[in-house]
Amino acid sequence: MASIGVVGRMFQRKPVELIHAETAHTELKRSLGALNLVLLGIGCIIGTGIFVLTGHAAAEWAGPGIMISFVITGVLCGLVALCYAELASALPVSGSAYSYSYASTGEVVAWIMGVLLLLEYGLAASTVAVGWSGYFVSLLQDLHISVIPELTAAPGVEVRTAAGAVSHGVMNLPAILAIAAVTSLLIVGISESATANNIIVAIKVSVVVAFIALGAFYVKPALWSPLIPAQIPAPPPGTPMDIWHQIGRALWDTVTGAKTSRYGLGGVIHGAAVIFFAYIGFEAVSTAGAESKNPARDMPIGIIGSLIVCTILYIATCAVLVGIVPYAQLDGPAPIATAVDAMGVTWFAELVKLGAIAGLSSVMLVLLYGQTRIFYTMSHDGLLPPQLAAVHKRFKTPWINTIIVGIVAAGSAGFLSLDTLSEVTNVGTLSAFTIVCVTVIYLRVTHPAMPRPFKAPLYPIVPVLGAIMCLTLLMSLMGVEKTRNFFTVYMLIGFAIYFVFGLWNSKLGKGVATVPDELAPMAAPHPEP
Ligand code: ALA
Repeated sequence: MASIGVVGRMFQRKPVELIHAETAHTELKRSLGALNLVLLGIGCIIGTGIFVLTGHAAAEWAGPGIMISFVITGVLCGLVALCYAELASALPVSGSAYSYSYASTGEVVAWIMGVLLLLEYGLAASTVAVGWSGYFVSLLQDLHISVIPELTAAPGVEVRTAAGAVSHGVMNLPAILAIAAVTSLLIVGISESATANNIIVAIKVSVVVAFIALGAFYVKPALWSPLIPAQIPAPPPGTPMDIWHQIGRALWDTVTGAKTSRYGLGGVIHGAAVIFFAYIGFEAVSTAGAESKNPARDMPIGIIGSLIVCTILYIATCAVLVGIVPYAQLDGPAPIATAVDAMGVTWFAELVKLGAIAGLSSVMLVLLYGQTRIFYTMSHDGLLPPQLAAVHKRFKTPWINTIIVGIVAAGSAGFLSLDTLSEVTNVGTLSAFTIVCVTVIYLRVTHPAMPRPFKAPLYPIVPVLGAIMCLTLLMSLMGVEKTRNFFTVYMLIGFAIYFVFGLWNSKLGKGVATVPDELAPMAAPHPEP
């Protein structure tokens, strides 16, 4: 194997048959139908994005135009979902985009994907924990249980003391404890159970639907106007103000990294980049490939169906939210609860908070679970140390891996602000989505005859437009210096680890990852990825 050289090793592809053979050992039951997959997706999608970030994005960036932001991001995710669905049906392996990359574009791209997925799953869990903390503290306050405000927010984040004075957070203790609790559950082996997931999804969706239905009676349409508040700072005098010039300028400012404006069309685009977090999770359905009864038919239904349901709920929720509370007042830790308070229906406020707490707990569980399984697979492949694949004798879970993921996620949740966490998560995920779109194009060009039970329609428009939209939102987020610096350093460290460890220990690279005898005839020759 060494004879293929370093570059050859970097681009080695893992045979699909080998991935199948490995996942076959898991003895997972093929029990999930299309409806279960849709519910699995919704369970992972609805969370901190809609319960918290919507308020922040409306107040700081888009105003009532947040509704348009949700449409933009919904379309983007729809395009990416079609690409995911094509890969999920053509490479029906469980284990997410990391495995797709390993089987198609090669090891170094799979590694980059793994590094990005750590942001998409691990850091996303921290973001959700911060949202959870906001609703939890708000509920405690309603029950007249006082909490030291400095212990409910990350350093540097403003908090208000009981006397109304402004102070600053020291750490977000409830968020740390939430991650610790979920990590403990994962160590003892309580992971996704379809029934428990369905119940929590039912609670979560009921709360959102009830908010929309009840809130609709309290909406003041005057608050929707202007739909897109004026840009701050205002454009220089003499700037053409017709819609096409505005769109062009907003896109130009975005992709050239010019300072992002609040409000105006630039604010709507940046708002879309911020609330992108709300959609993360639809691709989690792809990790259940091995448990799906009929993956070729049901995976696309699961991925796209959950996305459509959530997009409709999100746009309706936004319309009600900014129609009840003036957008500038929505930048709190629990904006949906703020809107319910404004409606004056006290009992419903408590119900919303309880629903949010339950719903966000399940999202944390699914995200952290996903992260531990990605590390587990990478460790199995030799790209990470073997300890990360060590399984606990009694609990049968990858416990060392879970503890490490838990510590990193808890530390991030306790000491980083919601803005930083969500924006870095979004940057990582948008990069991963771009790679997914490009992978679809790459495989169509290099392996045109490969069987694809589901094909993304309107090729090449869907993957090309998906990649362009992902890159546009990515550039908008990269305009924020803190996010750009964090991401650059993070990726450099990621590459360094691959060249110091992964490249030399990869089982594929060392030639020790082989297809079991009974599958060997399928694996060789191996013209398709
Ligand atoms: N989309 C999920 C959320 O909003 C991650 O919490």
